[in-house]
Amino acid sequence: MLKLEQARIAVVGLGYVGLPLAVELGKRYDTLGFDINAGRIAELRQGHDSTLEVSDEELRQAPRLSYTDDSADLARANVYIATVPTPIDDAKRPDLRPLEGASRTIGRALKPGDVAIFESTVYPGATEEVCVPIMEAESGLKFNQDFFVGYSPERINPGDKEHRVTNILKVTSGSTPEAAEFVDALYRSVITAGTHKASSIRVAEAAKVIENTQRDVNIALVNELALIFNRLGIDTEEVLKAAGTKWNFLPFRPGLVGGHCIGVDPYYLTHKAQQIGYHPSMILAGRRVNDGMGAFVAGQVIKLMTRKRIHVADANILIMGLAFKENCPDLRNTRVVDVVAEFQGYHPRVDVYDPWVDPNEALEEYGIEVIDAPEPGSYDAIILAVAHSQFVEMGADRIRALGKPDAVLFDVKYVLPPDTVDGRL
Ligand SMILES: NC(=O)c1ccc[n+]([C@@H]2O[C@H](COP(=O)([O-])OP(=O)(O)OC[C@H]3O[C@@H](n4cnc5c(N)ncnc54)[C@H](O)[C@@H]3O)[C@@H](O)[C@H]2O)c1
Repeated sequence: MLKLEQARIAVVGLGYVGLPLAVELGKRYDTLGFDINAGRIAELRQGHDSTLEVSDEELRQAPRLSYTDDSADLARANVYIATVPTPIDDAKRPDLRPLEGASRTIGRALKPGDVAIFESTVYPGATEEVCVPIMEAESGLKFNQDFFVGYSPERINPGDKEHRVTNILKVTSGSTPEAAEFVDALYRSVITAGTHKASSIRVAEAAKVIENTQRDVNIALVNELALIFNRLGIDTEEVLKAAGTKWNFLPFRPGLVGGHCIGVDPYYLTHKAQQIGYHPSMILAGRRVNDGMGAFVAGQVIKLMTRKRIHVADANILIMGLAFKENCPDLRNTRVVDVVAEFQGYHPRVDVYDPWVDPNEALEEYGIEVIDAPEPGSYDAIILAVAHSQFVEMGADRIRALGKPDAVLFDVKYVLPPDTVDGRL
């Protein structure tokens, strides 16, 4: 087995997960950051991370980290860590193409004794059933004889400056006891919060995917409660505050469940379950409820407008926030687009304003033209969809000033005092 001191690491995929990890490893080990996106490599070489996960100063603090978009450079490494995306396709099935691509790239670089570690969120079994055969085929080497595999899921949270890669306890695993020990020791050397060595790769894979499935199902329950309380004319937040005084009531809030994790990972688990003949009901029920919340928000706003005798057709509607969560530019799988899509059938003019996101990305990904600044006094309805700090600081008065005198103000995120808004989730 490799010794830690011999490790020359390649991180494959320098996104939200790969870059912060590469920076930490690059303080201690010779580390090569590889990405197929040449633009990403160019910006990192210039010392800037457009995901805003790592500051320019922090990038400078990793003297042993270098970047490449040439996969031939990976031949220099002996430890590979794959941190590529694991999205779903339109039919909500796992899209394993990036993972397969990374496995091919790593497979071509593998030499006897090397270790490949996967961090991407997958279903239990994916590393050994999908990645290993590809690496064997590309390298001509034998799994667990010539090369070894590990799996260590990432738990970071985009935009979260408190829970960073080094202070979140990390689950590790390996394809043999020695590989597991090597993987664990590698992470222990950079993760100050420590590690938990799982008994197998499949256990570690399953642990990650259920963390997000558990959150998804819990949020779905609270979303369903919001749908019920709305019909009963009861304010959901007030109910949650009252119930939350019990020591074991879990503090989940209703909302749009977007992002590439919570709204995506459960489908990895349900896909695998269906493959082996188990048809999950509860997990998919949660997904259905959560995926319906955007349409519900738009429906509520349309109701409130109609009550005020505001014609929805030709009305000006402002949606504040497009990112999938507050204070980050991440647009992946944002469910704010469901609110926009639901309005489309009613022919209002919908402006989307989000100072955090890249307007080109919003246009490319969703066909949404993000506006530079909302026109004060011009909106018939305003939806506060994402709790960016700028919006929170504006407060109800300045947000209301963007609307016409009788405009509807709807607060998806419980940012504003309840008596200052017309409706909320
Ligand atoms: N973002 C998070 O907070 C987070 C948290 C926990 C787990 N995860 C999981 O980690 C994985 C990575 O997520 P992310 O958010 O960092 O994704 P990302 O989209 O931010 O980054 C992925 C990077 O991989 C690159 N890439 C794609 N295919 C490649 C290939 N074949 N070879 C090399 N590079 C390739 C892309 O160009 C991109 O820069 C996913 O499985 C995700 O579910 C993400």
